Amino acid sequence: MLEQKERASVAIIGGSGIYDLSYISDVKEIKVYTPYGSPSDLISVGRMGNVKVAFLPRHGKNHRIPPHMINYRANIWALKELGVKWVISVSAVGSLRMDYKPGDFVVPDQFIDMTKKREYTFFDGPVVAHVSMADPFCNSLRKRLIEKGNSLGIVVHGQGTYICIEGPRFSTRAESRVWKDSFKADIIGMTAVPEVNLACEAQMCYATLAMVTDYDVFADIPVTAEEVTQVMKRNTENAKKLVMEVIKDLPESPNREDCSCCSSLENALL
Ligand code: ADE
Repeated sequence: MLEQKERASVAIIGGSGIYDLSYISDVKEIKVYTPYGSPSDLISVGRMGNVKVAFLPRHGKNHRIPPHMINYRANIWALKELGVKWVISVSAVGSLRMDYKPGDFVVPDQFIDMTKKREYTFFDGPVVAHVSMADPFCNSLRKRLIEKGNSLGIVVHGQGTYICIEGPRFSTRAESRVWKDSFKADIIGMTAVPEVNLACEAQMCYATLAMVTDYDVFADIPVTAEEVTQVMKRNTENAKKLVMEVIKDLPESPNREDCSCCSSLENALL
């Protein structure tokens, strides 16, 4: 059993570029053990104002875990263990449309899963569950990110289909054309799946704040890891500001009238 002070109601999963949250106070780094092994790193638990917050670097400190090697189940399990109800996931994405520009943020409402070999569920049997994925991201948390972003003058696009590829390589031009023109995806990344699925199974409110770092390869400017890192560096302050402002106003628990995330298993268990 964790001590009371090691609990948190909100978690931030930081992606490329977001490794520290200097504005969390009273930080304590804790190791959480899970049935699935170790999370990506120690989890920092502290306070933002009156809100108890947990921070987990998705790729580990120093970015040592590539997207396809992340232990997503351990990460989500560990946050659940801490009592987390809200998860804000920050990640870098490529854009598949000219009007979603590098430096802009997107709060996706849908995903397409093109990953290949990940652990997608906590329900490997004997308990079987088929969780609804019709609206995978929490609409209540999405709305908070979009509205707060707009009020801070940060460009936040309130809709988008996130196509998740296996990585760690980027897409070919032919693939990028398929994602954009046939699948009609808006942004592309490597980490939303299965993070969002697992958060749904864990009955947590989960939303992604995606930062556009490049135009993938459809615009004839091939994406480079260097480009992704540079844009991310320039915009991390905006990401941090927005996340902090949203967290300050979050109630300890979601309201059942605003979203159905915390009851996602009600009709899912066989
Ligand atoms: N992350 C950032 N840019 C990306 C891209 N173009 N494809 C996949 N993941 C990304």
